[in-house]
Amino acid sequence: MKKVLFSIIIFSAAAPAFAQEVAEKSFWDDPINDPLLPFYLVVTFLTITAIITATVGIYLVKVLNTLAGQAEKEKAQKLGKAYVPKPSWWSKLVQRLNASVPVTEEKNIELDHNYDGIRELDNHLPPWWTWLFYGTIGWSVVYIIVFHFMHSLPLSQEEYQNELAQAEEQARRIKAARPETVIDENTLVFTQDAALIEKGKSVFMNNSCGSCHRNDGGGNNIGPNLTDAYWLHGGDIKNVFATIKNGVVEKGMPAWGKSMKPEDVRDVTFFVMSLKGTNPENAKGPQGEIFTPPTEKADTTKSQASL
Ligand code: HEC
Repeated sequence: MKKVLFSIIIFSAAAPAFAQEVAEKSFWDDPINDPLLPFYLVVTFLTITAIITATVGIYLVKVLNTLAGQAEKEKAQKLGKAYVPKPSWWSKLVQRLNASVPVTEEKNIELDHNYDGIRELDNHLPPWWTWLFYGTIGWSVVYIIVFHFMHSLPLSQEEYQNELAQAEEQARRIKAARPETVIDENTLVFTQDAALIEKGKSVFMNNSCGSCHRNDGGGNNIGPNLTDAYWLHGGDIKNVFATIKNGVVEKGMPAWGKSMKPEDVRDVTFFVMSLKGTNPENAKGPQGEIFTPPTEKADTTKSQASL
C-alpha cells in the first residue's frame, strides 16, 4: 500500500513536468496521426474491459452472497436458532470510518454535563476525518520538498511566467511562418486581378460609394468623377489608395481606412482603378490635374487642387 501511494505521489509530481515538454502540440490537434494514439486506444480498451469485469464480478459476488445467506438462514431454521445476518463489507467499512458508538452503549461515553436534560457525549473525531487531516500533513511535507527544496516543479508564479514565455514563442513562430503582408500605400501595386476587382465592386456597392460618386463612378454634385484622367489627389494607385483610406474629411470624403479592413480598401481601390476610361454617360466634368500613368513619377505626388 505504501509503495503504491509513494509511486502515485512521485508520478503526479513528475507528470506536469512531462506534460509541459510535450505541450507544444496537443493530442487533439491531430488525433489520427498522433504517435501515442495506439497507446491511448489500448489504455481506453483496458479501462473499459476492467470496468466491465469489475461490474460483472460485483454482481457475481452479490449473487453468491445472497445464496450463501439463504443457505445459512435455512441451516439456522433447521437448528432452531435465530438467524442473524452477517454485516456487509460496506456496513463494516462505514462503521470503521465513523467508529460511532451505538446508541445502546452511549452510557459509557456520557460526560458529566447535563443541562436541562441536554447531555454531552465524549465522542472521538471520526477516523475518516483524522485520516484526512493526517493526509494533509503528509501532503504538506511532500509539497514543501517538491516545490521549495528540490524545486522540481514550478510555483504558480513561475508556471505563469513559463506559460507566458511559451505563448510568446508560439506567437513568434506563427508570425514567422506566415509573414504578414502589409497592405498600405507604400507597397501597393495594381494588378488586373478580376476576382479582386469584383470584390472591390461589392465593397463599392455595399458602402454606398455610389451615393457620392454614382454607381458607375461618373460622379455627381457631391463626389468627383472616378472614371476620367483627372484627379484631385493624384491618380496613381498609391494616391487613390491613400485618398480612400484617409479620406478628405473636410470635403466630405470619409476616411474608409477607419471602418474597412485593409483588404477591402485595396480591393475597392483596384475597382476604382478599373473604372478608368469607362466613360459613363453624363459623367461629371474634370476636376484636379490630369494624370498620365506610366513613367512620370512626378505626377503621382499629391495635388492640393480643390473643387
Ligand atoms: C459622403 C460622400 C462620399 C462617399 C460616401 C464617398 N466619397 Fe469618395 N469622395 C467624396 C468627395 C466629396 C471627394 C472629393 C474630395 C475633395 O474634394 O478633395 C471624394 C474623393 C474620392 C476619391 C479621390 C478622387 C480624386 O479625384 O482624387 C476617391 C478615389 C474616392 N472618393 C473613392 C471613394 C470610394 C471608393 C468610396 C466608397 C468606399 C467613396 N469614395 C465614398 C465623397 C464621398
